[in-house]
Amino acid sequence: MALMSRRVAGFGTTVFSEINALARLHGAVNLGQGAPDFDAPPEVLAAAIRAVNSQLNQYAPGIGMATARAAIARHAARFYGQELDAETEVLITAGATEGMFSAILGLTDPGDEVIVFEPVYDSYVPNMIMAGVTPRYVALRGDDWSFDSDELARAFNARTRAIIVNTPHNPTGKVYSRAELSFIAELCQKHGVIAITDEVYEHILYDGAAHTRLATLPGMARWTLTVSSLGKTFSVTGWKVGWAVGPESLVTAVNRAHQFITYAVASPLQATVATALELPPDFYSNLQAMYQAKRDRMLTSLRHAGFEVLKPQGSYFIMVDWRGAAPSRIQNDVQFAEWLTSEIGVACIPPSIFYQDSDKHLGRHLARFAVCKKDETLAAAAERLLRLAKA
Ligand SMILES: Cc1ncc(COP(=O)(O)O)c(C=O)c1O
Repeated sequence: MALMSRRVAGFGTTVFSEINALARLHGAVNLGQGAPDFDAPPEVLAAAIRAVNSQLNQYAPGIGMATARAAIARHAARFYGQELDAETEVLITAGATEGMFSAILGLTDPGDEVIVFEPVYDSYVPNMIMAGVTPRYVALRGDDWSFDSDELARAFNARTRAIIVNTPHNPTGKVYSRAELSFIAELCQKHGVIAITDEVYEHILYDGAAHTRLATLPGMARWTLTVSSLGKTFSVTGWKVGWAVGPESLVTAVNRAHQFITYAVASPLQATVATALELPPDFYSNLQAMYQAKRDRMLTSLRHAGFEVLKPQGSYFIMVDWRGAAPSRIQNDVQFAEWLTSEIGVACIPPSIFYQDSDKHLGRHLARFAVCKKDETLAAAAERLLRLAKA
């Protein structure tokens, strides 16, 4: 008798753990997973320590601590002019990951369809499968990862319950333009479809790109659930403190799922949300400048190594076409990532994992590198990558 449920049997293990293990084995510089190798702002770390030492160590309210919810509402007003009632329209989740899963469970029924853009961040489709929901894929194509508006319009049908929009986008670094989001907004309102947005990279933007919050476009406040988290902005990916915000009707539904998955998120870590989100403007501008420098430096290194680079506008990542830089025996992105990790000593992620089986060929010539690393880590990677240029 199979012990594993059919629900999870098809998932396999995530490629991230495989690449991490390979990177450890070969002592590779790990530009695979999107986790910084530097620490959080000291004020944020100090706030967590203060909380632990202030007896904030028991269950928080399931919906989240009042101070954290109020800070999330103020952050939404400060950056996007989005008005939220902190009492009823903000829910704290165990990272954006749980926020997205609870959103899918709380807002869809088995048999519904949810539209996703492909390449697609790797947790959404397994979430849908566990919820009995069918993913409907719309392709992002070309150097700017744009979608075909007719293809998107055709994807909406009587079974469509929601659309997931991740901007800035993992793995491509695409930042959806206001025009693209307006088109999505029109379709959502025309068909009565909920938009679930994943905005964890909202503050990691390049070359002056602007992040547009779909919820703030005309008519979208009532149709949009916005998910984000502390992890990427404050370099605390291990904390798993996130949130889902939107109209009470949607947040209440998401909380129905959340209350029986996580119930409540780690109290002392939630207690840092106000300190983190309310850091002065300098923090946010320095963050952007720091990431811009890291991205620019990596673009140069990757180009020197012989890669064709697809320039990101946001996120922790750079996608490259590796075909000009690898030996001819390398046939696909998984082989390339394994070879680069074991032979050259730099780990990256093979992007075919972000595609459904029938579309995997679309990611076979690509590799994803993370830039959220110390300058010395990026320098060590650059030095190793130069071996490609010399080969
Ligand atoms: C698009 C996207 N959403 C969500 C997450 C996970 O966020 P969290 O750690 O807050 O659960 C990641 C992390 O890589 C991500 O890239």
